[in-house]
Amino acid sequence: METTGGPVGYNRDVNPSSPTLRPQETKEHRSVAAVRRAWYVASESGELRSQPLARTILGEPLVLFRDGQGVARALLDRCAHRNVPLSMGEVASGQLQCGYHGWRFDGAGICRHVPGLCGESEGPARRVPSFPCVEAQGYVWVWMDLEHAPGSEPWALPTLDGRYTRVRKTVTFPGSVHATLENALDVPHTAFLHRGYFRGSGTSHELDVVVRRYGDRVEAQYIGEPRPSGLAGLLLAPGGGIVEHYDRFFLPSVGQVEYRLGEKSHFLVTSICTPVTDFETRVYAEVAFRLPFPGWLVRPFIQPIALRIFEQDRVMLQAQTERIERFGGEQFVSTEIDVLGGAIWRLLRAAERGETQSLEEPEERRLKLRT
Ligand code: FES
Repeated sequence: METTGGPVGYNRDVNPSSPTLRPQETKEHRSVAAVRRAWYVASESGELRSQPLARTILGEPLVLFRDGQGVARALLDRCAHRNVPLSMGEVASGQLQCGYHGWRFDGAGICRHVPGLCGESEGPARRVPSFPCVEAQGYVWVWMDLEHAPGSEPWALPTLDGRYTRVRKTVTFPGSVHATLENALDVPHTAFLHRGYFRGSGTSHELDVVVRRYGDRVEAQYIGEPRPSGLAGLLLAPGGGIVEHYDRFFLPSVGQVEYRLGEKSHFLVTSICTPVTDFETRVYAEVAFRLPFPGWLVRPFIQPIALRIFEQDRVMLQAQTERIERFGGEQFVSTEIDVLGGAIWRLLRAAERGETQSLEEPEERRLKLRT
């Protein structure tokens, strides 16, 4: 039996006949990391119109609105006067007007108007914290660390040419960012939970897997994988063949699954995750694909399949979250085919502590997986 150490909650048991549960170490542990020094998607651009929009990120209530120039702004959703949610108010003259006594705040959170007050409206105590906010790639992004200015741009979706069809969907999962991303990038569950849609309906194959961990991301490359069985695999490659398959995680909270079959078929599923609270994650998902036939032919089939798969995952994550809470913490035991969960957790924990490494060369490990 080989048992490795590592962060609490990630006991690794290579010999399943000798489980290595260590309850006293895992009790009360939950794989929740609050990475504040990061951009998160707060809404789709189209959702933010003329009225304020309430959002929660990392448990922090925020209000989004557009100022007089139409620029997206983000303030703490708490009026400086009597602390009611500013999102209950409205936008007036490009400023956010509280619904209680009508104080108005600009995009920087400065109080510009107090109805009935004869003196100056502005004052240091009358400010509302303002979060850096940008709009990019069809999303409104908010930087969640008020102590440190943004050190980078928001994560950029891959640039794809006009041959690709893109389908976007936003889904909320009742699980932590870690659980949600592990689920999104986990191969073994697809043959069970998503049987018929993905794998689980053909002969099994042994694959080589190469895992490469960088300072800010980790990827798993699956080598020698036949086209996955099931409806989703049929759409990817009706004629079968060996696919190139990568699963990737990027800090702070992006998962990406890539399948490619030659030059003609290419699927890229990107899940940009926003931690609403410790156990609620909003996923802004984009499926981009290129196939040997027109995208509009396939598009009507992609959406219902994706929604069905999301729903199966949502139900399982909810059950997982409830069971973890029922027992007061996690007791995870992993094998090496839980390919990315441990690495994602270590990257999240390092980022939470502000200790992201820069690695010149990736750390690499190899394993085998039967699908
Ligand atoms: Fe907002 Fe009074 S509580 S103006």
